[in-house]
Amino acid sequence: MALWSGRFEQSVDEFTQRFGASLPVDKYMYRQDIRGSIAHAKMLGKQGVLSRSDVEHIEVGLLEIENQINQGHFKFDVNDEDIHMAVERELTEDIGAAGQRLHTGRSRNDQVATDTRLWAKDLLDGLMAENYSLRKVILRAAHKNYGVIMPGYTHMQHAQPVLFSHHLLAYFWMFTRDFKRLHDAYVAADVCPLGSAALAGTTYPLDRHYTADLLGFDHPTPNSMDAVSDRDYLLDLLYACSVSMMHLSRLCEEIVTWSTTEFGFITLSDSYSTGSSIMPQKKNPDFAELTRGKTGRVYGDLFALMTTMKSLPLAYNKDLQECKEGPLDAAKTLRDCMICMEGMIDTWTVHSHAMLAEAGLGFTAATDVADYLAKRGMPFRKAHEIVGELVLYCEKHKVGLEDLTLEEFRKFSPLFGRDVVGTLDPEKIAQARNTYGGTGHEAVRLQMHEASKALKRDRATVKRMRAKSAGTDTTAE
Ligand code: ARG
Repeated sequence: MALWSGRFEQSVDEFTQRFGASLPVDKYMYRQDIRGSIAHAKMLGKQGVLSRSDVEHIEVGLLEIENQINQGHFKFDVNDEDIHMAVERELTEDIGAAGQRLHTGRSRNDQVATDTRLWAKDLLDGLMAENYSLRKVILRAAHKNYGVIMPGYTHMQHAQPVLFSHHLLAYFWMFTRDFKRLHDAYVAADVCPLGSAALAGTTYPLDRHYTADLLGFDHPTPNSMDAVSDRDYLLDLLYACSVSMMHLSRLCEEIVTWSTTEFGFITLSDSYSTGSSIMPQKKNPDFAELTRGKTGRVYGDLFALMTTMKSLPLAYNKDLQECKEGPLDAAKTLRDCMICMEGMIDTWTVHSHAMLAEAGLGFTAATDVADYLAKRGMPFRKAHEIVGELVLYCEKHKVGLEDLTLEEFRKFSPLFGRDVVGTLDPEKIAQARNTYGGTGHEAVRLQMHEASKALKRDRATVKRMRAKSAGTDTTAE
């Protein structure tokens, strides 16, 4: 029997009952639903709307239901459209009239909004913690490979030699920005809609600040109509997940490239590779490719919700039921992909000789040779032109800059001296770029120090958030 059976003469069609249900997704929110209901009951008790004994029965009853769901003993009913109805039905069956009084001064509209916000906060908490672990792994790899030189690229062409650590740290900072985006989504979710009722508030003397406080929210929502129909925080979550997947995907693309025979910069460990059913020699970077591929579905989750929201009049509309599956999928996908990335980086083998050998090829010293001339008084534009001619000369003679004699150099400019050789060593080239944020050894050492400070700061943020509202990681199945 439906909760609204008073108004109806016939029960809902069996197919539409299933079609209209959100239980398959929101059953993952049972902890949040129960937390929300306990807080609501306590607030009603404090305000004298419910008796102390009703509140006690409700709390004990709800905790027992949580226990049953935890154990997998809970029996869902075909008529349970969602987790809110399932829990309330069972509570009423278990404790009688007190259970029926719980739904005083609230509606499923503010209930679903509250549960979804609590759940989004828990998902984001888990994602921030994983983002922190991933960055720790990247920083560890940067420390471990400090001194390894690789070619830096623009347009996928050899550009200038860089430290491999510098390259890895570029990703560290991308993921640091992702942490901030996830945290911003958390702040957006951290507002309590409970007590907004169906859309207009209620005549009961609710203390919404108290409920918000009990649930660990920062403050209650200031407008009941916005409260029941706002899903912006889920869009923030989805956007944060999408950008982070994009960063993972870029790194995966590099991992795939670096592990080709042509590059040979890294070898992924067996635990993060797969073989071929026909070609015995194959070792494929499947998990990097899979992460790259999964980026598309997370973007899809973002676009789906953007589209669902775009024409909704105020306040609650059933379309909003569609808002949960995407964020759950995106959060789970991002979390799994971060875990996978941590494993790949932690267990790969870095071939520093292959990287260094490539770092010297493709005239990567050309900028430094031009700088050499400019530092001896030649305008940089002129120096650029002369080195361009030198490169052309080398290409025609199929040699590198390091193969030229001093006489050959001097044919292009008398400013060249014996010490030009010092500008051709890829290791020295990378080492010398010590401007703040550059690839030089000193600059990268400072960068690693700043990275570890950023990690400490973000760990403190996660701890602070957790202290404020004890969360559960609901991405785990
Ligand atoms: N199952 C609904 C959802 O997930 C709950 C809210 C229903 N409210 C309503 N008036 N039908 O969005």
